[in-house]
Amino acid sequence: KGDPRLDAISRAIRVIPHFPKPGIMFQDITTLLLDPKAFKDTVDIFVDRYRHMGIDVVAGIEARGFMFGPAIALAIGAKFVPLRKPRKLPGEVISESYVLEYGTDCLEMHVGAVNPGDKAIVIDDLVATGGTLSAAIKLLERPGGEVVECACVIGLPKFKVNSKIKGKPLYILVEPT
Ligand code: PRP
Repeated sequence: KGDPRLDAISRAIRVIPHFPKPGIMFQDITTLLLDPKAFKDTVDIFVDRYRHMGIDVVAGIEARGFMFGPAIALAIGAKFVPLRKPRKLPGEVISESYVLEYGTDCLEMHVGAVNPGDKAIVIDDLVATGGTLSAAIKLLERPGGEVVECACVIGLPKFKVNSKIKGKPLYILVEPT
């Protein structure tokens, strides 16, 4: 894309082969968090993209969306809304299940976190199938939120150009290496 910061961001992400199971090349963003320049550049790229879009809500997906979302929310003056795995949130929740390779999982959001008409972005570290982001979009739309875009640090090449999830644009910084 020509942004020199992206190379350093990509290099700061460690790949751990065969984690958590054989054949998986795990994209470990904890090494990106250890590099203050690359970490800040990552947040800044998202902040510059979303700061003038009237975003009300940054929704972060457990667990690694929590590592990027709050910094973006603070910088653009938006609420941060955690989308959590089941039975973690203490208040009244709405839930959306999604299909995994083996079995299903679920995301939950607190009732009252998103208001009708809120403009939202969804942030996570990585998109693979897009199933998790689809569930996040559905959750945000149930109380009347409007998802403007989904944003991930890492995405497969098939997502890089003009791809959509449930009709929403997907913004990706780097590909897996
Ligand atoms: C990973 C990743 C995304 C999701 C992407 O989370 O952080 O949230 O998978 O996969 P998808 O596009 O195929 O839905 P994981 O399921 O490992 O959960 P965790 O962050 O709680 O460990």
